[in-house]
Amino acid sequence: MTAQRIEGKAISDAIRIEIGEETAKLAAQGIVPGLAVVLVGEDPASKVYVGSKEKACQQLGFYSEVHRLEASTTQEELLALIDRLNRQETIHGILVQLPLPKHIDEKSVIDAISAAKDVDGFHPVSVGNLVIGDDSLLPCTPAGVIELIKRTGIEIAGKHAVVIGRSNIVGKPVSMLLLREHATVTICHSRTANMADIAKTADILVVAIGKAKAIGSAFVKPGAVVIDVGINRLEDGKLAGDVDYDDVLDVAGYVTPVPGGVGPMTITMLMQNTLKAAKQLHA
Ligand code: GUN
Repeated sequence: MTAQRIEGKAISDAIRIEIGEETAKLAAQGIVPGLAVVLVGEDPASKVYVGSKEKACQQLGFYSEVHRLEASTTQEELLALIDRLNRQETIHGILVQLPLPKHIDEKSVIDAISAAKDVDGFHPVSVGNLVIGDDSLLPCTPAGVIELIKRTGIEIAGKHAVVIGRSNIVGKPVSMLLLREHATVTICHSRTANMADIAKTADILVVAIGKAKAIGSAFVKPGAVVIDVGINRLEDGKLAGDVDYDDVLDVAGYVTPVPGGVGPMTITMLMQNTLKAAKQLHA
């Protein structure tokens, strides 16, 4: 059996059309969703991500501001900008691109963002709401994973989902979202014993460890849904996921490619969160 490829780009494009339609309806009421993105320093990958976010805003008719600050920006200066954006009425979503330069405390910066504008879903209030199950702004990549699974027509309720990775940005929140969707969830990490044995019991396997091609067919139950969150740059310049795509292809039932799987969903979910924040702030 060859696994079915989950086409993240196509699913993401379909959601963007829906967001565009809703944005047009809001515009008729005089509301334009506004996103502020803050980039501190010159990290090359961050520059690319920020450019993609700006482009998505233009494509969907959002208002956008990108604040490109010098690497030497002080924490006080950054906090002052966030305070201004928190109070700015044309801005409904604020995203501070991570990582930040070493002299800035990431937690203080995330905590300073108004929870109502926390389109990254990283603020402690957003994380708390995620755990409790309240309708709030969900972290973008985890929300994208759930959306990919659902829009492929795969039932999550009652399934055994195994998440490999326990980061605050992906592993922990995606585990909570799978639980909210009524999966039975197991979280594996670097200290897990017999990881392949556990992974092999998964109906849905989500991998987010940041190691190229680390997860092969020995970790996959026949017919399983394999979602690869990793994006790693190989020595030859090509991109690879955390899953060895070619190796799992004959075992899995569904698998996401890299690139073109989870990646395109992240910015789309950011746009969805900004639209949602705009609606809630004007409700
Ligand atoms: N850096 C890499 N991914 C992300 C993300 O999802 N949000 C922010 N703010 N920074 C990132």
